[in-house]
Amino acid sequence: MCETAQSAKKRALSFIQPSGLITIGNYLGALKNWVEMQSEFDCIYAVADLHAITVYQEPQKLRSQIYSTYALLLAIGIDPEKHTVFIQSHVPYHTQLAWLLSCNTQFGEMSRMTQFKDKSAKHPENVNVGLFSYPVLMAADILLYNSDLVPVGADQKQHLEIARDIAGRFNNRYGELLTVPEPYIPETGASIKSLQDPSKKMSKSDDNPNSWVAVLDPRDVIIKKFKRAVTDSDSCVRLSDDKPGISNLIGIYSAVTGKSAGEVEKEFEGVGYGDFKAAVGEVVADMLAPVQKSYAEIIKDKAALEALYRQGAEKASRIAAKTCYKAMKKVGFVL
Ligand code: TYM
Repeated sequence: MCETAQSAKKRALSFIQPSGLITIGNYLGALKNWVEMQSEFDCIYAVADLHAITVYQEPQKLRSQIYSTYALLLAIGIDPEKHTVFIQSHVPYHTQLAWLLSCNTQFGEMSRMTQFKDKSAKHPENVNVGLFSYPVLMAADILLYNSDLVPVGADQKQHLEIARDIAGRFNNRYGELLTVPEPYIPETGASIKSLQDPSKKMSKSDDNPNSWVAVLDPRDVIIKKFKRAVTDSDSCVRLSDDKPGISNLIGIYSAVTGKSAGEVEKEFEGVGYGDFKAAVGEVVADMLAPVQKSYAEIIKDKAALEALYRQGAEKASRIAAKTCYKAMKKVGFVL
């Protein structure tokens, strides 16, 4: 696409960590929207490898997860030719702008981040400084590209708010430069819960594999995991605060099919939990089948993948360099 046509469009940006298998939580909460936004926005998507190491990652495993996450983005239908798709660490301006922003972010603000509190409780042996300042790096990711809209799941809302605060503060102090981004959080699918404990979000770092469904799980595994999903002792498929397990499954069915919760309740009136769970498993497996087929092809050709992520990093660097140098100039550095 030519520069002028692209710049007339608003920009959507989002990243995903390569810190484990990508789940249907990631897919329904964020990735599905990444794909849809391509027709309307100039999109910038990346594999957030710098963020992943805030929790220790075994190096060999991390390397292969970065490849597979990048390949998965292509498999779900992200177009790296029309848009910009890259690996975060290939663009050094992220860490550079993050430092400038760190010096304009308060310790108290970071201490209030719920994800920091959760992750430091989960890994008390590794409460590192990167984990603490992670939202500043995320703000740099977003602000480097003057992003208008950031499609994410509900768990990233607080990080988005801090990115907006940091942008506003920088602009106030040094003069207008950074675009204040808007979050885009979908109505359905924004917070997919664990299949084993619906009080927690579905997370790829959960040790219990029955709690999540990976985008690349085989069909029979997907169906089995849904059959094992925790529900309540009632047998009525109805959305309710005191039925978190069944409500989560209704949410998943609704995010996959586009039907409203009311329509789902009607469709499954008089149907027992066993059959409903099987039906959810079926629609999820059907949704993922073409992605899995495409992934199997894409991951085979490492050379083609490399050409694409290198090209993505070049495109991203051109935009990021401009913002980073402008920010450095505003701060008073000699360029
Ligand atoms: P990450 O890698 O944890 O998740 C990627 C995306 O998936 C969404 N998500 C969910 N949505 C619904 N239900 C769930 N159970 C669920 N689990 C995850 C997340 O909200 C996210 O949108 N900090 C980010 C990565 C990041 C980023 C950025 C995002 C780094 N820089 C800049 C946006 C803009 C993260 O850890 O996402």
